[in-house]
Amino acid sequence: MKNNLYIIGNWKMNKNPTETREFMKEFNKLYEENKNKINSNIFYGIAAPATNLAMLKITSNDCLVVAQNVNENESGSHTGEISINMVKSVGAGAVILGHSERRKMYNETSQKVSQKAQKVIEAGLIPIIAFGETFEEYKMGKTKEVIKKMIKESTKGVNLLQVILAYEPVWAIGTGKTPSLKEIQKICAYIRSITNPNVIIQYGGSVKPKNIGKLMNQKDINGALVGGASLDPKIFIKLLTLNK
Ligand code: PGA
Repeated sequence: MKNNLYIIGNWKMNKNPTETREFMKEFNKLYEENKNKINSNIFYGIAAPATNLAMLKITSNDCLVVAQNVNENESGSHTGEISINMVKSVGAGAVILGHSERRKMYNETSQKVSQKAQKVIEAGLIPIIAFGETFEEYKMGKTKEVIKKMIKESTKGVNLLQVILAYEPVWAIGTGKTPSLKEIQKICAYIRSITNPNVIIQYGGSVKPKNIGKLMNQKDINGALVGGASLDPKIFIKLLTLNK
């Protein structure tokens, strides 16, 4: 069997603690019912808004609790921010960093991502470092060049065996469009070749039950980062069974 697969839902700014509890109640039931269809090498997690992390921790069994962002400072005058130890204290084991929405709308630079990643690792959590090209860059054949720079800068000073890399073409996020399977595999193989043979590489961008099986079968893909399809327990479970 292939190495472990890490399937992580990214709820973005959706659901409150009550809705989180309802999700997990239904999801845990579906998980038990579908257990025989879920390969033993599949691990899952959910990146929820910070207000829901404690609820996720209490209500989930094997779910990796993931934060969607953190501040790199330990504490102090950073109104509106949340520290690594705060999310850790309510059960987070990983943090998404550099998601394209944060890079675009909230000015998260690759330099900032590397600073945060170092602190996240020091605290014993796993940074999930996201990067990807825009549609214009894809069309111009610049994908490799663009992501090489993003990876290099975002993982500066970081041990690549302590992170998860999430390749997410910006134009595939929430659009229903994706590069071809062949293109995705090729880019993930490229990422491996410029980083570390044993690095964990997720693909993200319009991952759905209908394409997850083939994606997870690709040699250089070790998991998925999933937005829209992670919000409904009935659909999320189909990702974990690889739509079986
Ligand atoms: P999507 O989002 O699955 O809805 O395309 C992916 C992501 O933003 O991580």
